[in-house]
Amino acid sequence: MKADVIIYNIGQLATATGAAAKGGIEQGDIRMLTNAYLAIADEKVLNIGEGEPPQEMLDPYTAQIDAKGGLVTAGLIDSHTHLSFGGWREGELAKKLAGVSYMDILREGGGILSTVRATRDMDEQQMYERAEGFVNEMVAHGTTALEAKSGYGLDLETELKQLRVNRLLQRDTGIDIASTYLGAHAIPLDFISNREGYIRYVIDVVLPTVADLGLAEFCDVFCEQGVFDANETREILSAAKGLGLGVKVHSDEIHQIGGTSVAAQLGAISADHLTATTDEGMIALKNGGVIATLLPCTSFYLNKDYANARKFIEHGVPIALASDFNPGSTPNLNLQFAMQLGCLRLKMTPQEVLTAVTLNAAAAIDKADSLGTLEVGKQADVVVWRTNNLNELCYRYGSNLVDTVIKGGRVLV
Ligand code: NIG
Ligand code: FE
Repeated sequence: MKADVIIYNIGQLATATGAAAKGGIEQGDIRMLTNAYLAIADEKVLNIGEGEPPQEMLDPYTAQIDAKGGLVTAGLIDSHTHLSFGGWREGELAKKLAGVSYMDILREGGGILSTVRATRDMDEQQMYERAEGFVNEMVAHGTTALEAKSGYGLDLETELKQLRVNRLLQRDTGIDIASTYLGAHAIPLDFISNREGYIRYVIDVVLPTVADLGLAEFCDVFCEQGVFDANETREILSAAKGLGLGVKVHSDEIHQIGGTSVAAQLGAISADHLTATTDEGMIALKNGGVIATLLPCTSFYLNKDYANARKFIEHGVPIALASDFNPGSTPNLNLQFAMQLGCLRLKMTPQEVLTAVTLNAAAAIDKADSLGTLEVGKQADVVVWRTNNLNELCYRYGSNLVDTVIKGGRVLV
């Protein structure tokens, strides 16, 4: 078979292998080729190897991309983002600097609730265009697949608007976008004295509509002191599972209140944040086959503790790293920064970090059979970097090190 595209002159090709998340020492198992090539046909990886590309794969129509001795990896996968929302929250910066905590800002009706107001006020076309701009910016930083949550509408109309935008963007940009319903992100002001009523509304009204319309693959809950407790989380996520959705939990971000054991009991695909997780919680995640999605950019921005990644690895829990892009707790969408904090703050090795933003992140959105590694038959989502080695990518924070981004064999950047 002839290649449609050939990437040649690759200094270092680094990739995880396989079609399932890897934890423990396997998290650092990376296949490294030097002086390599990668051939693409029909949007998929046709072949990779060292040395010169085999002549029989080339014909006059094969597009040739010179990697100029650079590093090549699979496209990055951002498995936890809050992609569409109205406004920013830079106005909270002064409060934050004066020492008011993230949760206190929310309790005062700011935080998530101020973004809810701005998101409800935004029409769908405006929301689409803004989120499209964010997707393009992510792609420019090496992200070729992502997860996007709702959770800034809370009412049916606005949640559906956010989820429709995810679907339209996947269709129009060709980027894989896993869509997650996060109605249980906060109690909206209209239900402030009727939390039971809001939970019924989520379970009886919004969830069935979302499932019926096929607008989400996953359902997520913000399980945190003063937001949703473990029982409420279990009730909502059990209902979602009953409707055929996969489940995720924002768990142990600030306080450890049981979200992680709910995630393990329900066989969640991932539990996310996990900065306050105990050994017991880690063991539960391992036994439940749950991926730990760690979000170091959030710890950075909130100036809070980082998750204990080394302990998760000791317990054999597969780690994914994601940006958590959102207007309140981390307004950064550059996944390279999560990789660099993964090394510098979480003490993960560059190899473990690469698995975390490719294979394990693919598994965290249930796409590890087609995405996340550079292996024959996988989708040809590839980044050529402006560095010749993985160590440099995990160290040179502050610059965008992308040279070329390829999605399904098509050059996007
Ligand atoms: O993952 N923690 C809950 N949700 C988001 C933040 C949302 C916001 O502050 O707007 C997070 O950090
Ligand atoms: Fe989040």
